[in-house]
Amino acid sequence: MAIATVSITLLVMLLSSHSEVVKPVLATLPVFEAGSISTKAISVKESKSTSPKPLFIISPTIGGKYPVFLFFHGTCTTNSVYRSLLEHIASHGYIVVAPQLYNCPVVIPTISGNEELNYAANVANWLLLGLKTVLPENVEGNLDQLAVSGHSRGGKTAFALALGYAKIPLEVTISVLVGVDPVAGLSKECRCDPKILKFFPHSFDLSIPVTVIGSGLGDQKFLLFPPCAPSDLNHMEFYLESKPPIGYFVATDYGHMDILDDYEPRINICKGNRSRDPLRRTVGGIIVAFLNGYFRYETKDYLTIANNASVAPVNLSPARFINETQESLLNLGNFYSLKFDPTCPFDWIPDCHASSM
Ligand SMILES: *[C@@H]1O[C@H](CO)[C@@H](O)[C@H](O)[C@H]1NC(C)=O
Ligand SMILES: *[C@@H]1O[C@H](CO)[C@@H](O)[C@H](O)[C@H]1NC(C)=O
Ligand SMILES: *[C@@H]1O[C@H](CO)[C@@H](O)[C@H](O)[C@H]1NC(C)=O
Repeated sequence: MAIATVSITLLVMLLSSHSEVVKPVLATLPVFEAGSISTKAISVKESKSTSPKPLFIISPTIGGKYPVFLFFHGTCTTNSVYRSLLEHIASHGYIVVAPQLYNCPVVIPTISGNEELNYAANVANWLLLGLKTVLPENVEGNLDQLAVSGHSRGGKTAFALALGYAKIPLEVTISVLVGVDPVAGLSKECRCDPKILKFFPHSFDLSIPVTVIGSGLGDQKFLLFPPCAPSDLNHMEFYLESKPPIGYFVATDYGHMDILDDYEPRINICKGNRSRDPLRRTVGGIIVAFLNGYFRYETKDYLTIANNASVAPVNLSPARFINETQESLLNLGNFYSLKFDPTCPFDWIPDCHASSM
């Protein structure tokens, strides 16, 4: 055990000489503003001849071939209540496809996490032949550039889909993954299947770039209700279990549901008290910068946000991008310290974290 501590200390010392490249920045980045491409919302009904689930699509209207951004809604929300965020992304030249995976007659989902995941896989596979039948003339989706994302429970579904938990074989390839305040349940003991978190750093068997964006107030309680995004099951755990390349950004002053449009049909107990537009532009901007980095080889904006969070419209802490595993281990030393004890043998065994005993 002492040896483990010494070797980690050595690793930290060895790597701390590594210097960060600081890029010059603009006062604000164009990714945080609406893009220049005009867009159109398209609703597709569920039917055998159209789509396996109802879809809310936002597509550029200017002819061209665009990367595709598949987005899953959160617990008992609707796909269209994310319209502002999704329009922001589409206006930068992306085709956004947001299925309605299930409905909630009451306030809890009536389908299991596994069913939700299978529906998500059905929709992803539908993109291959179905997408071209619903897009505007001369607009084409590029499925060699497919990003998968989701908010809250839908964020977990996006990770589960990328990790291969769906029973339905995936016929498309996921290129990058974005979790928007992903949540895996109410507590470690109260999680929906599939249980993807292992409570162990780098446990996700993924080799694609990942960005996780979290809300700083998601862990707050409201009256007697449990928090919407409890720590241990929220953005931080998804970040820690991802492997580099991984970006991690937390909007410190916002609640779990502040990413939705201003108008929402349901009572929302998971919100902060600030104007939501700057948050949506921040989250949309981080996502656009990430996609531009991997799909258009323009990495500058993404690295700028990660290295100097003050360019964003709202406070971000932390904001970081880790490109390689060694850097990540170095960061774990400071960041995982409360959760991960290198001297505890159990902490090195997946799914066997000391604090869960
Ligand atoms: C970070 O961004 C702010 C706001 O754009 C800018 O004023 C500042 O000079 C930047 N800092 C560095 C180190 O680039
Ligand atoms: C907004 O929320 C913060 C954090 O919960 C709290 O400290 C602050 O007093 C609130 N402000 C108003 C105007 O309600
Ligand atoms: C990450 O590192 C690889 C290999 O050094 C490099 O090609 C790539 O551009 C880096 N990515 C970013 C976003 O800096």
